Amino acid sequence: SDYYALIPAAGSGARMGGELPKQYLDLAGKPMIYHALRRLAGSPRIRRVYVVISPEDAYWDDYDWREFAPRLSVLRCGGAARADSVRNGLAAMAEEVAENDWVLVHDAARPCLSAAQLERLLDEAGADPVGGLLAVPVADTLKRADAGRHVCTTEPREGLWQAQTPQMFRHAMLLQALHQVRDAVPTDEARAIEALGHRPLLVVADNSNFKVTYPRDLYLARLILENPDD
Ligand code: CTP
Ligand code: MG
Repeated sequence: SDYYALIPAAGSGARMGGELPKQYLDLAGKPMIYHALRRLAGSPRIRRVYVVISPEDAYWDDYDWREFAPRLSVLRCGGAARADSVRNGLAAMAEEVAENDWVLVHDAARPCLSAAQLERLLDEAGADPVGGLLAVPVADTLKRADAGRHVCTTEPREGLWQAQTPQMFRHAMLLQALHQVRDAVPTDEARAIEALGHRPLLVVADNSNFKVTYPRDLYLARLILENPDD
């Protein structure tokens, strides 16, 4: 089976603030989404990258994407929630992608994915019958608090991981999973796969692949991009 990538990029970036959706904010001289696109389209193991943007997106056409041309498709079918954008994108991909092909879903807002992390995901999740995702063991001490923010308990962090993207599953299984959880709106693909009774594999990553969410995150992302591991 072949590997494909899907980048959901139809969000408005409310927590970042500002008019321009965060996927288009300048990062090291390029719109943020360029970095995710370059990493995925730059892998010879990935056949094509699909980008899902909002039907109302007024920015995509302002940029020159020709360097990715033969292996990039843009789909103007973003939905209200991230899961809707991914589901709509998967449905549109079905023309080219076979049921058993792998689809790597990767946030436009994770510009610092390294080539080594991507390779490890392709190797390890690709050898798993279900698939998997990049994840990092929780490092901080975890507190459970009441509504007044007074600590109730300290939760053991053993066995707890932070889920990242890419998350990689078979096209047909992922589309079915996202149809099934329509009312629950999962925040990642793995949650939908778990709801089918499957157990995705966690592939060890590190926090350089963090999600750019707030304005301060842009500084760290720029530092990492200017000092790459690979
Ligand atoms: N996304 C999407 N469709 C949506 C919402 C989000 O394709 N309806 C995408 C975003 O563009 C981003 C990724 O999903 O690449 C992760 O979402 P998030 O970081 O939450 O981005 P936003 O939803 O844009 O930000 P916010 O939640 O702060 O509004
Ligand atoms: Mg969001």
